Amino acid sequence: MSHNTQAINKTRQNLSEFEEIWLFGYGSLIYKVDFPILDQSQAYIQGWTRRFWQGSHDHRGTPEKPGRVLTLINAPDEICHGMAYRVSHEVFDHLDHREKNGYLRFETDLVFNSKKTIKGLVYIAPEDNDAFLGPASEQQIAQHIFNSKGPSGENKEYVLKLAKALRQLNLVDSHVFAIETWLNQFETETQNN
Ligand code: SIN
Repeated sequence: MSHNTQAINKTRQNLSEFEEIWLFGYGSLIYKVDFPILDQSQAYIQGWTRRFWQGSHDHRGTPEKPGRVLTLINAPDEICHGMAYRVSHEVFDHLDHREKNGYLRFETDLVFNSKKTIKGLVYIAPEDNDAFLGPASEQQIAQHIFNSKGPSGENKEYVLKLAKALRQLNLVDSHVFAIETWLNQFETETQNN
């Protein structure tokens, strides 16, 4: 699958049929809300876990030197906590452009803290997209992130801002926090050299 998913996403769901839509955010959509929202609430989705396995050509890296950003990987026993936003269908022109590097919109059940469950959408970069980088150790991922930057800024900023936002929401993600710890270690080593 091509890494540019903007056109494909337009054909996936007919969003104009919906007056309002809940969108689940688990990565940069948690800490960078650059679109109008009608409401927001913490929520989780079942059977998925965050991994920095997606290449970023357009935000945190370049086509020649992609950075690493999050996608969700199937994990039947896991829960991914994040933020759900109620939005109007018009914001998807912007979101499809922002998430165009490999992410497809999927329909999913969002579970709110109240246990109320509602159908929503989530952007996931599947393993067969051309920008997918796949697994590496958390140390290797952190090293890669430490050395990457793109039009949206340094790749490490993505991790550090997300880790801070997760803590503010009282959420824990061992993968994100482990990579944050490595990044802080590399930063200290660089300053001491
Ligand atoms: C998300 O945040 O939900 C999608 C991935 C990203 O934009 O970082």
